[in-house]
Amino acid sequence: MSSHLMPTYAPAPVTFVRGAGTELWDDSGKRYLDLLSGLAVTSLGHSHPAVAEAVAAQAATLLHVSNLFRTEIGEEVAATLDVLIGDGVAAGGQVFFTNSGAEANECAIKLARRHGGPGLGGPNAMTGRYVVVSAFGSFHGRTLATLHATGQPAKHEPFQPLPEGFRHVAWDDLDDLERSIDPSVAAILLEPVQGEGGVKPATAEYLRAVRRICDERGILLMLDEVQTGLGRTGRWFGFQHAGILPDVVTMAKALGNGVPIGACWARSEVARAFEPGDHGSTFGGQPLAAAAARAVLAVMQEIDAPGRAAKQGERLRMALGHVPGVATVRGLGLLIAAELDAGRDAKAVASGCLEAGLIVNAVTPTALRMAPPLTITDDEVDEAVAILTGVLASARAPGLAGDQGKPR
Ligand SMILES: Cc1ncc(COP(=O)(O)O)c(C=O)c1O
Repeated sequence: MSSHLMPTYAPAPVTFVRGAGTELWDDSGKRYLDLLSGLAVTSLGHSHPAVAEAVAAQAATLLHVSNLFRTEIGEEVAATLDVLIGDGVAAGGQVFFTNSGAEANECAIKLARRHGGPGLGGPNAMTGRYVVVSAFGSFHGRTLATLHATGQPAKHEPFQPLPEGFRHVAWDDLDDLERSIDPSVAAILLEPVQGEGGVKPATAEYLRAVRRICDERGILLMLDEVQTGLGRTGRWFGFQHAGILPDVVTMAKALGNGVPIGACWARSEVARAFEPGDHGSTFGGQPLAAAAARAVLAVMQEIDAPGRAAKQGERLRMALGHVPGVATVRGLGLLIAAELDAGRDAKAVASGCLEAGLIVNAVTPTALRMAPPLTITDDEVDEAVAILTGVLASARAPGLAGDQGKPR
């Protein structure tokens, strides 16, 4: 045994000790540019002073009292989120705070079942709507229910039997979605951009059509914005690109800029399906995490985080499009994947980048994901692209003799 931690991860051979903005330093003092933000979490950059101050002040004032008592900060953060979801006007919803993205989705799934009526095994067994339809290639979390919602059958296998009530359809395929709907369907759960699935945006037409189908059939539309939410795609929420309003929205990652907090927002008519005792969390929305979120949202509004993501995303996408060894670039805002030329191994390229002082992630065997802080500067974008260009030029594509980075 070389570690006291369970072997659920295979961490890269580097130990980070400090971060500031887009930069990280390891225990030898080496500097890195972080174009992953701890998996789309540190959207305001590492050690943002306003967040650090808010956390320190809250830690010295009140850390925790439990949800058996009222605190003010959670109310404030929920009200702000409601306005951001409504893109500037209150959307008229209510929030349940969690500690992670999976828990936010777990809340959404339970809410869909509660809203759908009595479920399996109740006095009116089989009369309620309880099925959640999600897409192949999706990622919704690692708890047993969110794992089943995750449309990746290989991830299900070791953990059978999983909770029932989940169904999967082809991504961005309206016909397949329509075929999956029967009277047992309570909700459709989608990411506006499949993040872990390879950075694959849904088309706006698809999301609008799903909204229409949900309205016609009395089904809840639930958007998982855990990775895409809070400015990352160039709008406050990914669904806003399609001009729709979902019934339920989940988020987490960027909300605390590194302090664990997630949220499940629902339209009030839907949220009212929960009664006291139906759901809970000891830590969810406690003062420390809520203070971090309040500071994060204030800074994001002040600097127009979505506008920055749109602008810097454009710069990064344009630059990546000219890098020899990159075949195509896709994504929205600052959630971007660079699909490498055939024969390139994304994992090997990501390792090469790490050695060269650039953090990116091999989101598929052939694609690199980039989700930098929304505060990334022009110079940092240019430096990151220069490092990647160097790594791709120096690494020969396996099986492609002589490919030293083909000129375009
Ligand atoms: C879209 C989406 N949903 C849910 C999750 C799960 O979030 P967490 O790891 O905080 O439980 C993730 C994590 O990557 C995600 O990207």
